[in-house]
Amino acid sequence: MEDIEKHLELIITEDGSSSLRRNDLQEGYHSTFGAISESKHIFIEAGLRKVGILPNINILEIGFGTGLNAILTLEFAIKEEQSIYYQTIEKYPLSKEITSELNYGKILDLEKEFEKIHSLDWVRDYQLDQYFTIHKIDKPAEELCFAKDFFHLIYFDAFAPQFEENLWTKAVFENIFLSLKEGGILVTYCCKGDVKRMLKSSGFQIEKLPGPKGKREILRAVKISKSLY
Ligand SMILES: C[S@@+](CC[C@H](N)C(=O)[O-])C[C@H]1O[C@@H](n2cnc3c(N)ncnc32)[C@H](O)[C@@H]1O
Repeated sequence: MEDIEKHLELIITEDGSSSLRRNDLQEGYHSTFGAISESKHIFIEAGLRKVGILPNINILEIGFGTGLNAILTLEFAIKEEQSIYYQTIEKYPLSKEITSELNYGKILDLEKEFEKIHSLDWVRDYQLDQYFTIHKIDKPAEELCFAKDFFHLIYFDAFAPQFEENLWTKAVFENIFLSLKEGGILVTYCCKGDVKRMLKSSGFQIEKLPGPKGKREILRAVKISKSLY
């Protein structure tokens, strides 16, 4: 796997939370207006909160990266006493030298949990809390075939389509459409026309929602099978 760490820069965003920037791509892992506020807005509030309360929620994340969405989801699970199974995929896993510089654990008062999330082996289930089990996979998401009719929610949070052409494809969206349960939700920061068209033609109903600071819109897509119309 390509060594990307020589291109990484640690930054502090406007809300005080840290983030990373890939200088070779000129692309950030999060918005400079606030990593935690952006992730909460898109993935927790527009995604997880929308799923509602269930006996268990299965989440798939494409793009584990810094682990920010994972730790925010763990925080939600503990606060809401909501059982969550979290499967997360990463093409370019980060080393401990990088992840130990991130301040999410400190800010959220979940330092031990954040460290643990990063030190866990890949491709194994770990119950981190009575309400939260995580399974990390260190592969490009486009190479995987996901369990059918399993997930309630997908966080689609990989780098933008121009950097990951093999990922933002109709074949991948069809694969993850099948992996969602009926009524399941996909949320992403990306509102590009091509992405909307591919989601629609894969069977999703899409809606644009107001974005976090610095981003006009985000996308929520819902699996509603045609046979139900
Ligand atoms: C925008 S960053 C966000 C990551 C993460 N959700 C976070 O909060 O830090 C995108 C992440 O997607 C990963 N990624 C890019 N292409 C991927 C692919 N094809 N499959 C899986 N992960 C990918 C990148 O390495 C990076 O960690």
